[in-house]
Amino acid sequence: MDLPEEFLSAARKARSCVVLTGAGISAESGLATFRGRDGLWRDRDPRDLATPEAFSRDPKLVWEWYQWRRQQLARSGPNPGHLAIAAMEGMFDSFLLATQNVDGLHQRAGSRRMVELHGNITRDRCTRCGKVVPEKADGGDELPKCGCGGLMRPDVVWFGEAVPAEALETAWEESGRAGIFLAVGTSGLVQPAASLPVIAKRGGAYLVEVNPEPTPLSEAADLAVRAAAGAAMPELLERIGLARGMQARAREINTKSRRCENGT
Ligand code: APR
Repeated sequence: MDLPEEFLSAARKARSCVVLTGAGISAESGLATFRGRDGLWRDRDPRDLATPEAFSRDPKLVWEWYQWRRQQLARSGPNPGHLAIAAMEGMFDSFLLATQNVDGLHQRAGSRRMVELHGNITRDRCTRCGKVVPEKADGGDELPKCGCGGLMRPDVVWFGEAVPAEALETAWEESGRAGIFLAVGTSGLVQPAASLPVIAKRGGAYLVEVNPEPTPLSEAADLAVRAAAGAAMPELLERIGLARGMQARAREINTKSRRCENGT
């Protein structure tokens, strides 16, 4: 991968790095994106499934859709793109991963310094008392209930709902301070996540987009890597590691993530 000197210089100098991910980072783990050719929304209107109104109108239909997504997730796992981002944490004094994804694959890949902007499908939340618990096994026709008697819902942010304030605050702050910002696998269409790269750029960050397709972020990007994240991220990780004089660490991490790819 040919990379411009400006990228290598930014990678070398940056004290802080922020990575924003979207559904595209999980595509190579076999999970459908929302808006692509085979996207989840291709034959569904989001308002039918991912809104509080849809849930109060037909909680069973919404739960069926989430249980189906959980079954897809159970058969999936982190790909080398997730692993490379997890490894990137240790290369910067300050690092934050802000994910729009709810699949929990970043945590399973080892990411720790992260915020979930849209919640997490592997948790349930009570609609009455707000209690959050790990997902319960599919109860078939029985809708999951809380001990307080309230109906449980997936612990995700639906259309029309606010992103968790603390997560957003952290993401905004870190983006404004980032020396290098990577937008990976996101269409850059959904606010407030889509404002993070703009805030980073305004704060002087070097903006990298990793996406096989152009997006509304492409114009502002200093570097557009038109490739799948699973291939591009391990290579970017290695080059960032080299630029920051962490050759051994970068190579060791990549060997590990490639081993993951081959399933060894
Ligand atoms: N590697 C990198 N990017 C990819 C890959 C891949 N292997 N495959 C697809 N992409 C890109 C697509 O080109 C697209 O631009 O990932 C992007 C996925 O975009 P969306 O499906 O819109 O997903 P996302 O940006 O995460 O959507 C944001 O919208 O529906 C809501 O809550 C949902 O969090 C989601 C939010």
